[in-house]
Amino acid sequence: MLGGSTCTAIGLEVSRILGVEFQPVITREFPDGELYVRVPLGVSGKRVVLVECAGRRPNSALVESVLTVKTLLKKGAREVVLALPYFPYARQDEEFNPGEAESLRIVAEMLEGLGVSGIVTVDMHLHRFKSMEQVFHIKAVNVTAMNELASYLSQRYSDFSLVVGPDEEAEQWARVFSEKVNAPYIVLRKERRGDEDVEVRGGLPYKGRVVIVDDIISTGSTIAETASNIKAMGAGEILVACTHGLFVSGAESKIFASGVQDIISTNSVPNPFARVSVAPALAAGLKRVMGDE
Ligand code: R5P
Repeated sequence: MLGGSTCTAIGLEVSRILGVEFQPVITREFPDGELYVRVPLGVSGKRVVLVECAGRRPNSALVESVLTVKTLLKKGAREVVLALPYFPYARQDEEFNPGEAESLRIVAEMLEGLGVSGIVTVDMHLHRFKSMEQVFHIKAVNVTAMNELASYLSQRYSDFSLVVGPDEEAEQWARVFSEKVNAPYIVLRKERRGDEDVEVRGGLPYKGRVVIVDDIISTGSTIAETASNIKAMGAGEILVACTHGLFVSGAESKIFASGVQDIISTNSVPNPFARVSVAPALAAGLKRVMGDE
């Protein structure tokens, strides 16, 4: 198993779970911003898993993936499986305005075109595409980290009264979470008017401890708007769990100001609230994509 830049910790943990050797890919930036990549020797004839962490560095992670996968195959790797704890560019999954790139489709095609044999990711933002099969033509597995997030929270808090998903898409995560913490779930309605302009409607009178779950926190607008909504309707305590904590533009201040008491995320993207490892979910996905389970 090989780990790209910023992916050593996750790569090491996954390799320990799977019982395989781990080595980092040697990378650095040239003075002009271009990337340098050097893969370890001895990959010839082997199946190689490459873990690439794309969170707050989506562009360099993609270029790094291209350079690394192509080099591994040139050096004789039998196959390369790409593990992306966070799949970048998934939210621009449509040409919303004429002339816009359908980024998800283009990035998926680009990664497939490298010649990887499989792709594994965690809580990928599948909204208008409902399954991995609709996006990829190769074996691709999307696993969830919601079980691990729910286990972590339920060890520290008890008596959840409700699990809330901010929008229809979050229903899948709210459902998994609610089973784990033994509380019902609801899904609200979200309208996004701009990068940070979000309105969340719906809901009911709340009481007790409520947990909001989502795949991504980026600007924090979705969570802050959801929390304000449920606070105004009576929630006693509001917690937040997300898989990918990008936390851009002061997202955490916005979220805490809206009445949230605690935030947890996985470490798929480094952030101050990353208290749950994405490695067990990623390892489970890798076993599936490699046909070991
Ligand atoms: C979009 O539908 C996703 O599931 C998240 O709700 C969204 O990416 C969060 O973005 P932000 O934190 O900027 O509202």
